[in-house]
Amino acid sequence: MRTFETKQALRVWLDEARADGATIGVVPTMGYLHDGHISLVRRSVRECNLTVVTIFVNPLQFAPDDDLEAYPRDLDRDRAACAAAGANAVFAPSVSEMYPRPIETTVSVGGVSGPLEGEYRPGHFDGVATVVTKLLSIAGSCRAYFGEKDWQQLAVIRRMATDLDLPATIVGCPIVREADGLAMSSRNVYLDAPQRRAAAVLNRALAAGVAAVEAGERDPGAVRAVVDSVLATEPLVDTPDYVAVVDATTLREPATLSGSVRLLVAARVGRARLIDNMGVVLSGDS
Ligand code: PAJ
Repeated sequence: MRTFETKQALRVWLDEARADGATIGVVPTMGYLHDGHISLVRRSVRECNLTVVTIFVNPLQFAPDDDLEAYPRDLDRDRAACAAAGANAVFAPSVSEMYPRPIETTVSVGGVSGPLEGEYRPGHFDGVATVVTKLLSIAGSCRAYFGEKDWQQLAVIRRMATDLDLPATIVGCPIVREADGLAMSSRNVYLDAPQRRAAAVLNRALAAGVAAVEAGERDPGAVRAVVDSVLATEPLVDTPDYVAVVDATTLREPATLSGSVRLLVAARVGRARLIDNMGVVLSGDS
């Protein structure tokens, strides 16, 4: 497996591979890889001739009081995990390689960036959209893999790729969970043992909300109340930033639930801010 640290070297290598007829899969990550990330790598390895995992903790998507400095890093372990999953290359640029000068051009996606994470993390999605545009521009024509764990991020990236005609096919991949249902996340390392046990309530709360919808509840407010009531049973989980029951594409709350519905939650547990989501599809009954 190759490791690239410069944009130019990666670009040349991928251009040559494409000229030889290879299809390229790109898996953008911030590293500290777990089985959720690796599921994206494996999918890319199955579907593409060459897979590149990008590992870059992107300062642009962190607010000044966010966890940029504390964000966990282990490039050697990540490289080993990528190689074991069949990746052909890791792209691990430095901050000065990605941002040699203070950036004056950013990508801002309207609409779907606005609610939920957009309200609680102002500027976050501009940072994500900008770095993903740069990574996909460096990589060129490819399939690019993203997790449903960050449902809103996936929606933002899909919209951006369509609006800007990026030469990438965006592929969404299902959430990988721990045995107790907690969605895997690099930030789970911030949890101590009691917090780690408590964090599983996010998944249970979402599942209770989905069960209510499946049992016929069509009022988003009533479903939110079900999710809230389960979350409230766990004192180590702070009052959530949001519990949302929304249209899966627009991320806006309809008056009555129909079609593709997404339940999303964000809550702090100790130092960690955790997000999770779950979907349910209603087929023409409402
Ligand atoms: P990061 O949090 O490292 O996640 C990288 C990719 O892995 C994202 O597409 C994310 O949705 C996916 N992922 C994380 N946990 C997952 C899980 N439990 N199951 C399935 N997929 C999972 O998301 C980012 O980095 C950054 O914002 C990035 C897109 C790389 C831009 O900097």
